[in-house]
Amino acid sequence: MPRYVIAGNWKMNMTPSEAAAFIKTLAPMVEGKDKCDIVLCVPYVDIPAAVEAAKGTNIHIGAENVHWADKGAYTGEVSCAMLKELGVEYVVIGHSERRQYFGETDETVNLRTKAAIAAGFKVLLCLGEVKEERLAGITDEVVSMQTKLDLAGITSEQLSQVIIAYEPVWAIGTGLTATPEQADETCGVIRATVGALYGAEAAEAITIQYGGSMNEKNAAELLAKPHVNGGLIGGASLVAEKFTAIVDAANA
Ligand code: PGA
Repeated sequence: MPRYVIAGNWKMNMTPSEAAAFIKTLAPMVEGKDKCDIVLCVPYVDIPAAVEAAKGTNIHIGAENVHWADKGAYTGEVSCAMLKELGVEYVVIGHSERRQYFGETDETVNLRTKAAIAAGFKVLLCLGEVKEERLAGITDEVVSMQTKLDLAGITSEQLSQVIIAYEPVWAIGTGLTATPEQADETCGVIRATVGALYGAEAAEAITIQYGGSMNEKNAAELLAKPHVNGGLIGGASLVAEKFTAIVDAANA
């Protein structure tokens, strides 16, 4: 059985002081709910405050991206070593907002993923189809291709550091959720692709999350599906009660 992972993706929300206050509120609400790993991926500048506030709790802190180079002339980017020093454990890579607004490609997603794995991070690797692709009936091909390109050059051993977040782009921040059946089916396609690349054992072990308008109301139904082993949660991760309800659903 894959380990369930419930991860918040705060995107460009919360200042450092807001982050600290939020985590202080959330920590007692999720204490002891250890059937899943609990992660909050926060803006770079919030990381020191978030790591400090999460000390001694079961909340793990992640970043929302990382660059592949060790250092150098990459204005605005942040390296693995910088995040390591702050106590970051997880990194989101390939989020659709990065792909859509900041020119992220499967090639750069792969470079970032390889660097993050080498640095010892757990990677929340995001992929998913856009609306036109779902309507054209090519979702399976798209997610399978992304899985192959994004994982290129990653060994079986390294795969244990990868969590795949299946996020249909049309469901992100729109209030439209994939039905539990759609989520399960497409997570199953991703799992089969992992199986073709790394074998059946790796396919059974990998955590595949669903993301896209997951909330306190639909989480239980989505998480009950065999191929859905957690969630990557945007909007609902900014409200402690909602995020806790999703953690509860993963602990049921
Ligand atoms: P959402 O975002 O839950 O607000 O749809 C999910 C994500 O982008 O990871």
